[in-house]
Amino acid sequence: MDAPAAEAAACCRTEGRIVFDRVAHSFPGGSGGSVTEAVADFSLEIEQGSFVCLLGPSGCGKSTILNLAAGFERPSGGRVLVGGRPVTGPGPDRGIVFQDANLLPWRNVLKNITLGPELAGRPWEETLSAARRFIRLTGLEGFERHAPYELSGGMRQRVALARAWITEPPFLLMDEPFGALDAQTRLSMQELLTSVRQVTGATVLFVTHDVDEALFLADKTVVMTPRPGRIRQEILVPFPQPRDYERLILNPAFMELKYDILHAIRRPEYEI
Ligand SMILES: Nc1ncnc2c1ncn2[C@@H]1O[C@H](COP(=O)(O)OP(=O)(O)OP(=O)(O)O)[C@@H](O)[C@H]1O
Ligand SMILES: [Mg+2]
Repeated sequence: MDAPAAEAAACCRTEGRIVFDRVAHSFPGGSGGSVTEAVADFSLEIEQGSFVCLLGPSGCGKSTILNLAAGFERPSGGRVLVGGRPVTGPGPDRGIVFQDANLLPWRNVLKNITLGPELAGRPWEETLSAARRFIRLTGLEGFERHAPYELSGGMRQRVALARAWITEPPFLLMDEPFGALDAQTRLSMQELLTSVRQVTGATVLFVTHDVDEALFLADKTVVMTPRPGRIRQEILVPFPQPRDYERLILNPAFMELKYDILHAIRRPEYEI
């Protein structure tokens, strides 16, 4: 392969990936003027179209990692590349969903979902037809004109998902998006995410505390150490997609993997 062809091939390989290369991040403002070292020496490559779940004890730096990929924070050390480019700030290539739906209270369901394309100046007809598609997929038909306060928590979260998905971003960054939902709604949201992902083919980085959720959704789980968060273990999830939750939890291999992951999250630092 000649040099330009090799360069082009390398570029294609990085195009749909998220890469953390020896990332460190500290926050100022600790007690006595100290800094809080949130993550250290964190290296991870998320392949195009794959779904990676980040797990680890509370405060180990999971949200920090996600916020670095989102461009809300700049790393104190190392590099974060999304789609082959260093992250310099938030961008429309990354759809972001947090635990709280963060809807605009003065906009109805439809207008919350269409916010991104409207701000980007997309033609209204095209935006409306995409919004209708995602309203259908998220089961929000009939609620287009409702205000956020007129929705249940699960419905508000579905609006947040539709808002993140409407532009079909190649990357989805999700920070405990279903953490506040009851078990039943959470499962239907997880199933929804699985089916939408099959349509859009997005590369997903997903933070969760819930090992069952990680094993239902992910191609790979990444367990972090306590702060400063480093990678303790990367575990491939071997069950073929799409998965059936009720069958999955009865599978002995699922229980074994769940045990391994729980153990990796909980075992003390000195056992690394
Ligand atoms: N904006 C900030 N300013 C100062 N310190 C911060 C900030 N954001 C996070 N931290 C600190 O960085 C560390 C990692 O926080 P982070 O929110 O990434 O953890 P987490 O793994 O997401 O925790 P949880 O599971 O509880 O959500 C914590 O000690 C936290 O106090
Ligand atoms: Mg967090």
